[in-house]
Amino acid sequence: MIKLTQVSKRYQQATQDEFALREVDLTIDAGEFVAIVGTSGSGKTTLLNIMGGLDRDYSGTVVVDGKNLSQLSDQELARFRNQSVGFVFQHFNLLDHMTAAENVALPNSFAPTKDRKTTPLTQAEEALRVLGLGAKTQEKPNNLSGGQKQRVAIARALFFQPKILLCDEPTGSLDTKTGHQIIETFEQLNKDGYTIIIITHERRVSDAAKRVIQIEDGCIVDSGAGTQ
Ligand SMILES: Nc1ncnc2c1ncn2[C@@H]1O[C@H](COP(=O)(O)OP(=O)(O)O)[C@@H](O)[C@H]1O
Ligand SMILES: [Mg+2]
Repeated sequence: MIKLTQVSKRYQQATQDEFALREVDLTIDAGEFVAIVGTSGSGKTTLLNIMGGLDRDYSGTVVVDGKNLSQLSDQELARFRNQSVGFVFQHFNLLDHMTAAENVALPNSFAPTKDRKTTPLTQAEEALRVLGLGAKTQEKPNNLSGGQKQRVAIARALFFQPKILLCDEPTGSLDTKTGHQIIETFEQLNKDGYTIIIITHERRVSDAAKRVIQIEDGCIVDSGAGTQ
């Protein structure tokens, strides 16, 4: 499902270039629930952004869901980001002036599909209901708790039913109890067949994952193989 071969990435610095990833080889199969752990600055976000097509400035080969990302045009890559993967971030990244349902339906405005049985907003409301937010579809983010905002963000990530969810410290802004509920949501989504990849600092999140990948200084020091 995801295969990285000899992926390196360096950021240009004033004095010297710095490697954020060094010759990373990594395979993640369909249906896995993977945690990526490592100290701050070890390259976790860089790795996730490359897998999700947010960053195409790297060397090596990245194949996701049968697509070699470096061979996609900018337009194809934008479509991949919008529809083939879902992103969940620490700070939710919701638009404050839109309702929960409008936020969830936002991916549709970048790639409107005409042959829908329902309208995007109706579909968004249904997705929110499934995540326990049926009563909050018309609320703006400011009226929602952190856990509710993260659920809206998850519903948005799932809008086009991608096979893969990429999550960058999704519980990092939540209290323990709320974070736990969000982890349970990911566990359920994994049972439903989604491939889940979560960057985390938190032990309870990596405990929930079926495989833990450790990254240090841009290198995978433990790919978690055998713990699956
Ligand atoms: N936009 C950037 N410009 C320059 N260096 C960066 C940039 N983003 C990340 N880095 C550097 O790349 C390394 C890895 O960063 P990152 O992937 O964000 O790590 P993590 O998510 O594990 O904290 C760090 O040394 C960081 O300083
Ligand atoms: Mg990071």
